[in-house]
Amino acid sequence: MTAPEGGASGTRARKRDHLRLALEADVGFATLTTGLDALRVRARALPERDLDAVDLAVEPLGHQLAAPLLISCMTGGVGEAGPVNRALAVAAQTHGVAFGLGSGRALLEDPDAAASFRVRDVAPDVLLLANLGAVQLAEHGLRGCARLVEVCEADALVLHLNPVQEAVQAVAALGRAAGGDTAFAGLAARIAQVCAALPVPVMVKEVGFGLAPEDVRLLVEAGVAAVDVAGAGGTNWARLEGERDARGAEVAAAFADWGWPTVDAVRGAREVLDAAGPDVLLVGSGGLRHGVDALKVLCLGADLAGVARGLLAAGAAGPDAAVAAVGTLVDQLRVAAWAAGAASVADLGPHLLQRA
Ligand SMILES: Cc1cc2nc3c(=O)[nH]c(=O)nc-3n(C[C@H](O)[C@H](O)[C@H](O)COP(=O)(O)O)c2cc1C
Repeated sequence: MTAPEGGASGTRARKRDHLRLALEADVGFATLTTGLDALRVRARALPERDLDAVDLAVEPLGHQLAAPLLISCMTGGVGEAGPVNRALAVAAQTHGVAFGLGSGRALLEDPDAAASFRVRDVAPDVLLLANLGAVQLAEHGLRGCARLVEVCEADALVLHLNPVQEAVQAVAALGRAAGGDTAFAGLAARIAQVCAALPVPVMVKEVGFGLAPEDVRLLVEAGVAAVDVAGAGGTNWARLEGERDARGAEVAAAFADWGWPTVDAVRGAREVLDAAGPDVLLVGSGGLRHGVDALKVLCLGADLAGVARGLLAAGAAGPDAAVAAVGTLVDQLRVAAWAAGAASVADLGPHLLQRA
């Protein structure tokens, strides 16, 4: 539980709690699952090619990656976040995968927080994503986005949508100075303004309850370059915020199984994007535990597979552990693609999956 939430010190306290709780507390879903275990990869015993002939390379948003993986946005803004970001950035550089920094709100509120977001020196070639809550556009606007991208030396900006998390923060903050921003009216139009004017691509993501097909449609209309469904079944942000406050926990209790399971969210988004025509990148994430889960979301139509909390402990343990953990993820994905009979990412599709 934390003290009053206002301003930069409130943001820092929250970031600290998020890291600690994501590592230590039970912040999963009650019974809802990603749906990935209900799918099996059609395992082949005669792939008819060598393992090292499998090519996982992709080129999202004009950047070459060695594997279609994203280390999803997690942290920044407090001292202990800096080493985690740097360890994960080293791992991304080593293995040629994309990396997202956590919300840069702290940086916009307090320039001294910038150090924990600086990773370019250890990740010169990485597709690097800066991150901000979409609801914070009301306060920080296009200018804040541009500053964030510049300070982080990012290649793209991710705006996150987290209505239920903000609402749990807001009820917990009743009677306090501030906390939880639920002013979501007109947000799609604000996102559209940023997409039109920011010189780098804009991705929009949820944080673990999934994007609905209707959301994806609105985001395509807003002009986003990418969406990340961040589906349900992994980290439950209502419960995580509930861990910080008794009143918040009372409200959060009803949301223990809220949201779109990752499988449904990826399928729904793929359908909308196929119908919409323009080339919008799709990230499949939410509760991915290993490279076989990653293969499954790629087969469902995601262009990249994203993992957040599954890599947090390794990131917190330092660069060697992070490099090893991301290496394992890439190896698992490569073996899974190979033993499913795929030669490259282009070969992945629903035909490689069956019901468990
Ligand atoms: C400790 C922690 C902090 C997070 N902070 C952010 C954030 O600042 N911005 C954001 O867009 N998502 C954030 N997320 C959400 C993740 O990017 C991801 O969408 C979500 O956790 C689902 O993926 P997972 O099940 O692999 O963890 C955070 C996740 C964790 C575990």
